[in-house]
Amino acid sequence: MKNCAMSYPYQINSFEEYQKVYKESVENPEAFWASVAEHFVWKKKWDKVLDWNFTEPKNEWYKGGKLNITENCLDRHLAERGNVPAIIWESNDPNEKQRILTYSMLHKRVCQFAQVLINNGVQKGDRVCVYMGMIPELAIAILACARIGAIHSVIFGGFSAQSIADRLYDAQSEFIITCDGAFRGGKDIPLKSVIDDALIGNRTVKKVIVYTRTRTPISMIKGRDVWWEDEMRHVEEMGIKEMDAVEMDAEDPLFILYTSGSTGKPKGVVHACAGYMVYTNYTFVNIFNYQPGQIHFCTADIGWITGHSYIVYGPLSAGATSLMFEGVPTWPDAGRFWEIVDKYKVNILYTAPTAIRSLMSYGLGPFQGKDLSSLKVLGTVGEPINEEAWHWYNENVGKKKCPIIDTWWQTETGGCLITNLAGITPSKPGWATLPMPGIQPILVDEKGVEITEAEDGVFKGNLCIKFPWPSLLRTTYGDHERCRTNYFATYENLYFTGDGALKDENGFYRITGRVDDVLNVSGHRIGTAEVENAINMHAGVIESAVVGYPHDVKGQGIYAYVIYSNTHGDEELTRKDILQTVTRMIGPIAKPDKIQFVNGLPKTRSGKIMRRILRKIAEGEIENLGDTSTLLDPGVVEEIKNGHI
Ligand code: WTA
Repeated sequence: MKNCAMSYPYQINSFEEYQKVYKESVENPEAFWASVAEHFVWKKKWDKVLDWNFTEPKNEWYKGGKLNITENCLDRHLAERGNVPAIIWESNDPNEKQRILTYSMLHKRVCQFAQVLINNGVQKGDRVCVYMGMIPELAIAILACARIGAIHSVIFGGFSAQSIADRLYDAQSEFIITCDGAFRGGKDIPLKSVIDDALIGNRTVKKVIVYTRTRTPISMIKGRDVWWEDEMRHVEEMGIKEMDAVEMDAEDPLFILYTSGSTGKPKGVVHACAGYMVYTNYTFVNIFNYQPGQIHFCTADIGWITGHSYIVYGPLSAGATSLMFEGVPTWPDAGRFWEIVDKYKVNILYTAPTAIRSLMSYGLGPFQGKDLSSLKVLGTVGEPINEEAWHWYNENVGKKKCPIIDTWWQTETGGCLITNLAGITPSKPGWATLPMPGIQPILVDEKGVEITEAEDGVFKGNLCIKFPWPSLLRTTYGDHERCRTNYFATYENLYFTGDGALKDENGFYRITGRVDDVLNVSGHRIGTAEVENAINMHAGVIESAVVGYPHDVKGQGIYAYVIYSNTHGDEELTRKDILQTVTRMIGPIAKPDKIQFVNGLPKTRSGKIMRRILRKIAEGEIENLGDTSTLLDPGVVEEIKNGHI
């Protein structure tokens, strides 16, 4: 492979350098983030690095700057790295040929598809919903949106028609890019047909662009639905091979990504062009200690923030080679990841603890005949990693030679905030360790007072961040007040993450999990309220309460307590019906693992459900339930305990 002249002057090379850079970054954040931003392509430099307050909240970076993120992800690499692979794509089917898109090829396709968008009436600022499988066209679609300044909103292929309808409505999207279907493991997911269901009664969507992947028969609606391939052919015939990138303000929105919170429907987290670009690039280069020419394999789906930041924008803005995989780790067998690592000589593997735990259950057989010696760096993201999984990953995948980075972050933070830097800063199993330069974490108690007393050398509290960084969310789409109340109103002048954490005497952080009503199931964020609303849609359900419980593979499982009107008979059938309802309302990822039918729920005299008790019972801690004297009817607890599954 052709090597290249790309270098990263802001790459940290030693622990001492990290300490020095960290100190500078918090003493003078503006100078620090300006020095990083110097290394990007701007159409016009910024006037002001940062303008912020956490009360409104306002968080604006590089104001007055003009740029287009795709010039940084594509155009700037063409002269010297045009022939370097930008995206290597591995099919779900191990027998299907891989696809390799060099930077020149990707640039051309993005420009052409940007023209397709324009031909179909998409303009700067329009919201474009993207509902596709993991194929290069998904990356092309979002980059083409960014090229013309349209705001992409990617929806994970596992969400239901109802979820899509809600998101289309919230973002007032007029355009959709989808596929006929998607392959995932042994399944063929009928994406276009789900979109058709989502569009029943919808009057805002004007165009649906459909890429052919599975050749599943679909219906195309005249005037509304067009084929990707026809549109691209037309552009090719027009002789279009490139297109100037639209000039964007630094603070113009780049994308919306919906994520679950503790209340209500999922909210549209908004990220802005310049800050998101600078932070994802900075973290990509430093966290993975990326060296030009290396193959980076992030196994996430682009439907989640991890895919946005560390398959597409971070790697491409760094001129890296990003490997994109359509399938799942266990299909056709549990050696699939290892086969891919060997096939492409992957250097960096970034995956989720849930994938590691699931692979652990297959034993060491799948490693037979696999070399894995190309691996240099291993990473995890999405949930706390238990020590057993950490050691298994270290021994069997990294052969004890690869640093493991445990990267903690969120959809709202845009990029990793707390993590070790591969091979540069120390690691500690189960601990995300130290903050990135520019990130100022603080642990507080319920009242927002900083935790200053350690218990056995460990501080314990709710994790907040004191100062903004370039890729902190700007707003929640269409509802700035919701952004304020969700993240900036719990504690004055702090961004509240919703996570609990520990800090040791070295200043290392360990994230212990959510302290709000958000579940983390296989690394997917799901609000308990969302699942309850879905269950309550079922005709026979009177009331429900949903909590999480520890699950060996998924990290957390979903436990639902349901009060059901007994007129419909058969319990097993009812259980199936309820699961169907949840699948319809949200998607299969939100299906409860356990449903317990109860006659009542433990409530306080003011009618509030005491989730603490339900959580304990779900965890199997039947005996030590703590104080139940404030309950309206303590008898309910006995019944629930007896029926525990
Ligand atoms: C959890 C995923 C422990 C956390 C990038 C956070 C983690 C939520 C870690 C965000 C980690 C993410 N250790 N917990 N390394 N990484 N989390 O928005 O609870 O899908 O709040 O972003 O995942 O999930 P999200």
